[in-house]
Amino acid sequence: MNERTLFPLINKLARCHQLTEAEYAQLIRFRTPETAARLAALARTAREAVYGTEVYTRGLIEVSNFCRNDCYYCGIRRSNQNCDRYRLSDEDILACCAEGYRLGFRTFVLQGGEDGAFSVPRVCRLLRAIKSDYPDCAVTLSLGEMERADYQALYNAGADRYLLRHETADPDHYAALHPAALSFDHRIQCLRDLKDIGYQVGCGFLVGSPGQTPELLAKDLKFVEEFQPAMCGIGPFIPQQDTPLRDEAPGTAELTVYLLSILRLIQPNLLLPATTALGTIQPNGRELGLAAGANVVMPNLSPLSVRKKYALYDGKICTGEEGAQCVGCLQGRVASVGYTLVSSRGDIRTI
Ligand code: 5AD
Ligand code: FES
Repeated sequence: MNERTLFPLINKLARCHQLTEAEYAQLIRFRTPETAARLAALARTAREAVYGTEVYTRGLIEVSNFCRNDCYYCGIRRSNQNCDRYRLSDEDILACCAEGYRLGFRTFVLQGGEDGAFSVPRVCRLLRAIKSDYPDCAVTLSLGEMERADYQALYNAGADRYLLRHETADPDHYAALHPAALSFDHRIQCLRDLKDIGYQVGCGFLVGSPGQTPELLAKDLKFVEEFQPAMCGIGPFIPQQDTPLRDEAPGTAELTVYLLSILRLIQPNLLLPATTALGTIQPNGRELGLAAGANVVMPNLSPLSVRKKYALYDGKICTGEEGAQCVGCLQGRVASVGYTLVSSRGDIRTI
């Protein structure tokens, strides 16, 4: 197997937007710098056909690091006694939105651990406040698993989008990364409910999680191909010192960027963020991601006082910078690969 045998597969992917699971696994297992360059070139062409040279941006507000879950990879897991817990008040969150709006954001993402203090009625009140102050903005929620009726209530209160990474599309691998209290089937049911209700849904997975193989990643790609989300967030697994997976090897920027190109070819209109984890594992990781098919960045708008506390993984970047500094920094990074950061809601385009 060499890149010559992979080039026909790559052409087939670009033409048909799908491969078999075995073919995805081959494309990953036998990748070379040449296959990566070919995929990236095709991915850039595909993204430019749908989104031109625009890069969308979302203001991320990390509302709480309390979490009832105990995922083995995550620094804000319930059992982590070293995590300095915080939750933002409604006033804090509205102040972040005001600052974000001033900076040009037209999407706000409220993300947090599964924290009972963010009850459905409270989040509904917040949504109504944000939507009445900023009717031209989209609001994305990323607050974990809920029952369908709760997702429906939040949608009715004005939520436009929901991010819930599936983390891995393989039930056994899911069980290796999560305690038994979390069920793969329920997570997938949540994603289906969200889509059914009418949300623009983002799924996503860890790259390089311990024990992950090309065959497991092929399942993630097949899942995305079939589910057809609006967004797919992927980033390298990065060990966090206070978690059970502290001594495992991290994922790589190289494989993450490779998968971004494949995802772009699977679904040309997919919203694909160049994630903070990608920028953490490699200083120019986000630029490499944008140059290989990504079209979204999600700078941090959380108050500086809590930034360091939302420590999902070690070494997280952007914890010392004001929102405005992150925007300036990202404008430069986006421009360095020939693209432009735009101020718009950045909805998915239908082709
Ligand atoms: N490394 C990389 N990503 C992580 N996440 C949580 N912990 C880690 C880690 N150690 C990701 C998960 C989650 C998102 C909010 O952050 O994929 O869905
Ligand atoms: Fe936050 Fe560069 S994006 S400092």
